[in-house]
Amino acid sequence: MDAFVIHGGERLSGRVRAGGSKNASLPLMAAALLTDEPVVLEGVPRLADIANMRRLIDELGCGTTDEPGAHGSMRLSLRCHDESASTARYDIVRTMRASICVLGPLLARRGQARVSMPGGCAIGDRPVDLHLRGLRALGAQISLDSGDVVARAPRGGRLKGARIFLGGPFGPTVLGTANVMSAAALAEGETIIESAACEPEVADLATILNAMGARIRGAGSPRIVIEGVRELRGARHTVIPDRIEAGTYLIAGAITRGRITVENCPIDHLMAAADLLEGIGVRLDVAEGAGDGLRASVTVECSGRVKPAQITTQPHPGFPTDLQAQVMALLCMADGNSVITERIYPQRFLHVPELARMGAALFHQGPTVVVSGVRELVGAPVMASDLRASASLVLAGLAARGKTAVLRVYHLDRGYERMEERLAAMGARIERVDEKELAGVAAGAAAGGE
Ligand code: EPZ
Repeated sequence: MDAFVIHGGERLSGRVRAGGSKNASLPLMAAALLTDEPVVLEGVPRLADIANMRRLIDELGCGTTDEPGAHGSMRLSLRCHDESASTARYDIVRTMRASICVLGPLLARRGQARVSMPGGCAIGDRPVDLHLRGLRALGAQISLDSGDVVARAPRGGRLKGARIFLGGPFGPTVLGTANVMSAAALAEGETIIESAACEPEVADLATILNAMGARIRGAGSPRIVIEGVRELRGARHTVIPDRIEAGTYLIAGAITRGRITVENCPIDHLMAAADLLEGIGVRLDVAEGAGDGLRASVTVECSGRVKPAQITTQPHPGFPTDLQAQVMALLCMADGNSVITERIYPQRFLHVPELARMGAALFHQGPTVVVSGVRELVGAPVMASDLRASASLVLAGLAARGKTAVLRVYHLDRGYERMEERLAAMGARIERVDEKELAGVAAGAAAGGE
């Protein structure tokens, strides 16, 4: 297994380019299951999760080929050649919960689907009850069998449009909205989804579905109206930039008190995060004319200690849960006490004990962490646990005094392309090593982490 070794204290300078959105790419790839015509996705990031999804949809009879795209991205071509399969196996779904997003397309196009229940993960429970409620409302018969969700369209094979309230106790569901919207695209009649997720990735999925011939209005708002059609055709689509990757690099510039420019930055999708950063004293400059608010060039600069903040994570457009761990690392060295409350995944705090190993003063009570700012963090061996917690530990290592070893960075590779290379290109002292090279360090951290 790989680890990152970081010698902290270097101020980042230079440029980094945000890649295509992981969380948009996964449902976009699943949309290829809705047609037997070719779908071409431009700007797909080269990530472990994308490779996993390719394996999954390949098993579902949808072949994929890739070729170099712009700026080191991938042009991914997908086409269904065999629509007889409809099972997403446990050993793929358990490694990537987002596999659930094939459920809606399979059900709508093939009339049936068997998808393993995703189970929990490092950030907490990951239920799918809202997905199932929405698909049942479209007429699907849903049952659970040996850990799998088994879904069948009505005898005639076609789902029926319905009015669906999709809100849950933690707000809307992003992939649940994707599943229901994709299924409703081929249903008979009109579907209204109330309390739909407003995340940009949902709007991006609606864009490709409409390009495929669907009739969807209101995506990106809490109320989506879908007029079902009989067939969907192929389409070509460019994936929106990754707002969480871009936000992570903005925080990297701030935490190292450097000055960097994030290109291809969807600043329009980061208004809450930008507001927070500016509120604590981080300077953000959006270059004039360098692309619209979707692909802007944003320069981040921070010269001193940031001010403390009060943050509550919310569904989009509120402060994103996927940047909570990263901003916590930044606030660890704020000039005062901050309060972070996690309303989407109340247990999403596996980075807290690891940051504490680096000298952070964190007081965790239920869904809230009080961050008492310290003057400096000190490097230590720390254990990555989930994608965004891993990013938080790398950011802390960049700012800490001395050496930090972040173990199990395979978590990071799921959502960040060659992060160590990009950070090193901006002056960070960071390298990827095999954990075996850290014998003593790894054993110490692992013992603490088990
Ligand atoms: C998407 O997951 C993202 N993943 C997550 O990003 C992100 O954290 C999450 O949305 C919230 O923004 C992808 O898009 C691949 P949800 P998703 O359904 O759709 C509860 C990352 O780091 N809920 O919007 O699975 C759920 O427990 C990943 O890139 C139900 O109660 O999340 C959570 O509390 C991590 N019942 C809240 O809703 C359901 O049926 C939001 O979950 C579904 C969800």
